[in-house]
Amino acid sequence: MPPQHRRLLEAHTFAAEFYQHLLLNTVEGEEALEYLTGRGFTPEAIERFGVGYSLGNSDSLARLLARKGFSEEEMAEAGLVIVPEHGGKPFDRFRNRIMFPLHDPNGRTVGFSGRVIQKADNEPKYLNSPETPIFNKGEILYNYHNARLAARKSGNVILFEGFMDVISADLAGIQSGVAIMGTALSDKHLALLGRITRQVVICTDGDDAGWEAARRFSRLFKSGRTDATVAVIPDGMDPDDYIRKYGGGQFREQVIGQPHTLLSFAMMYAKRGKNLNNENDILQYIHEVLAELAGNTTPVERDLYLNQLSRETGVSAEALTAQFRKAEAR
Ligand code: UTP
Ligand code: MN
Ligand code: MN
Ligand code: MN
Ligand code: MN
Repeated sequence: MPPQHRRLLEAHTFAAEFYQHLLLNTVEGEEALEYLTGRGFTPEAIERFGVGYSLGNSDSLARLLARKGFSEEEMAEAGLVIVPEHGGKPFDRFRNRIMFPLHDPNGRTVGFSGRVIQKADNEPKYLNSPETPIFNKGEILYNYHNARLAARKSGNVILFEGFMDVISADLAGIQSGVAIMGTALSDKHLALLGRITRQVVICTDGDDAGWEAARRFSRLFKSGRTDATVAVIPDGMDPDDYIRKYGGGQFREQVIGQPHTLLSFAMMYAKRGKNLNNENDILQYIHEVLAELAGNTTPVERDLYLNQLSRETGVSAEALTAQFRKAEAR
């Protein structure tokens, strides 16, 4: 490891300790602590996930790091402090936010994501570390270092959008969750997943963006070597919302325990927003499902899903099969 990287890692270790101290032991951290408690965070979870709080004033971390011997250049390079280009006082990047450390695959803190406590219009809900020599958001899966061990027991990895979902699932007894922290699944993410499991359960948010993400991910997995299924969250909720509403037991049994095959999910996706009492919608639905079944499917899968399609649309399995042969010949 280059010496410069070691310095950046050290700065992150100090920052994480400082943020956690502020959350747990100061008056300034009380509101953040109440917020977390209200969201179901136990003291044990706060400790284990290293959650902290950054002060509202502008340079407390910069001053701490200076006392520890870090130069302004190093603080800026770490992405923790912003040094104004044309002089002026350096200030902390993260201010008045709940701080979540982000780890590399070896479990070292390499960045942060900070959540606002009360959402205002002009600022992002989560502010992340910038790209640095040790942090690249597209190369990091939240909780990967823990999930890697848990996946040996569970046999699978659950792929979430948000790290709040990972933490919620962990408290619900599912330790093999990771998050891409958004909806962009990179080649690097796929490679990381491939290193620890052959079975990925996609569990994105139940809103439109989450459905679109699950659709994109399922196509990526279909063409790759990892088997994937999709656990669908109902009613526009996200996994964390679901767990808080229905409890961890129901999440484990009815969501994670009953994932859909990629083909079944593709049918659910095609059905979304369609009215299967409307002839145009029925025809469009059939068209989309047949296109999905063409190509890489086994005879048994075809039979299974053509029969389901027949039940859903009232069109005979014979007619669907004939149409399917034509679709496949094209
Ligand atoms: P979500 O908007 O689904 O966040 O974004 P969430 O996990 O449900 O968070 P809560 O429950 O509102 O607190 C999913 C992920 O996208 C990234 C974060 O990594 C988040 O975990 N994100 C989201 C950002 O980086 N910036 C944002 O402003 C919003
Ligand atoms: Mn989302
Ligand atoms: Mn279901
Ligand atoms: Mn969400
Ligand atoms: Mn959420």
